[in-house]
Amino acid sequence: MPVRVIVGSQWGDEGKGKVVDLLAAEADVVVRFQGGNNAGHTIENVRGKFALHLVPSGICNPCTMAVIGNGVVVDPAVLRSEIDELEGKGVSAANLRISGSAHLIMPYHLMLDGVVEAALGKDQIGTTKRGIGPAYSDKAERVGVRMQDAMDPEGFRAKVHRIMEGKLNLVRRVYGHEPVGLREECDRYVDAALGLRPYVDDTSLLVWQAIRQGKSVLFEGAQGTMLDLDHGTYPFVTSSNPLAAYAGVGVGIGPTYINEVWGICKAYTTRVGEGPFPTELFDEVGDKLREIGREFGTTTGRSRRCGWLDLVALRYAARLNGLTGLAVTKLDVLNDFEEIRVCCSYRLGDTLYPELPPYQAVFSRVEPVYETLAGWNEDISEARTFPELPAAAQAYLTFISSFAEVPLALVSVGPRRDQTIRV
Ligand code: GDP
Ligand code: IMO
Ligand code: MG
Repeated sequence: MPVRVIVGSQWGDEGKGKVVDLLAAEADVVVRFQGGNNAGHTIENVRGKFALHLVPSGICNPCTMAVIGNGVVVDPAVLRSEIDELEGKGVSAANLRISGSAHLIMPYHLMLDGVVEAALGKDQIGTTKRGIGPAYSDKAERVGVRMQDAMDPEGFRAKVHRIMEGKLNLVRRVYGHEPVGLREECDRYVDAALGLRPYVDDTSLLVWQAIRQGKSVLFEGAQGTMLDLDHGTYPFVTSSNPLAAYAGVGVGIGPTYINEVWGICKAYTTRVGEGPFPTELFDEVGDKLREIGREFGTTTGRSRRCGWLDLVALRYAARLNGLTGLAVTKLDVLNDFEEIRVCCSYRLGDTLYPELPPYQAVFSRVEPVYETLAGWNEDISEARTFPELPAAAQAYLTFISSFAEVPLALVSVGPRRDQTIRV
């Protein structure tokens, strides 16, 4: 049975949630392994429409175990309300498991995310302000609180308050900021974390046992390759590693157990927040993509920056993740374009870059070099097999897959589960 990782191959929001929800129907376990509630994964199925931030997108399948691995940073209040909302819509969270080693996002992380961004001024990253960077910083500094700390309620509360006092000092003295109601918020978060104790389990062991029993396991990446802390457009990245290689670390299994890696790639490109984006369009074509693709953030509601598909970045994602399959989503958004451009290399001055330049000083200044392909000018949202697609759409997909040197595995032609072509 496959042990498959699903990763974003661009700057996030590629449609990972839709693909995971679909594949979860065939999976015994779905695992989130990094990121936090900076993620917004939208799924649409017979149970309704859901915007998930922390709960794995397999939750709608009653037979699938949904695991939040140690590599995730968990905002306990957000997770609590997500569980309550799901249960309110008739989706049981009984199959949810949370790693005791997952770090917790606390109110002082949210506060710091805000003040640090404000202090950066024009150099700000444009984070989701969900406390992600500060929580991962504490983890690396070894001063974080983890889900397992909640097993000792009094010690946990005291630890959170002790850390909070230090953070209060920091924001007052360094940033000149006077927070209001932080103590009460910390108490609310401690209570929320205590309420999550029934879900805490040895998730590394659970996932390993499932693999050993020949079960199908799906790892659900959040964010995307170009937002990777090490290999993305630093510093305009997130604070975790969305790459497939991190799946093993983020739940605690060895890399040799993983046998498939699918990259999710939107048929064009979007980005939220600041940072370089060579194919960004500032004209009416960009507006058209945003409007038809409804490119507004699931987490923050921000407008997504839109542009043509960047195949140089996709090749990079194929290399960094070792992609074995490509899932192209939102192809239907291109229904109404006479011609479609794809970026096949970059240029800076007289230098042509067929691969992603390794230095940000170069990458932030490159211009895209495009090839133009024919549009199909018809509605493809009802197509369910590859041959049903118009010739130009088939040619577009074949071009993408051969350029990335990754076989096409799936095509998505609408947000619903059934609007999918398995190749
Ligand atoms: P994720 O973060 O990668 O899970 O992606 P998001 O959920 O943030 O953004 C993808 C958006 O596109 C969601 O609103 C999905 O419902 C929607 N979507 C996914 N696949 C398709 C598709 O093939 N066509 C269209 N039109 N929308 C899609
Ligand atoms: P999903 O899983 C798109 C972006 C933010 C910001 C940068 C750092 O839905 O694809 P952070 O809050 O992580 O410190 O912000 O990363 N970002 C995302 N962009 N999709 C996401 O998740 C994102 N998660 C973070 O906009 O530019
Ligand atoms: Mg998203």
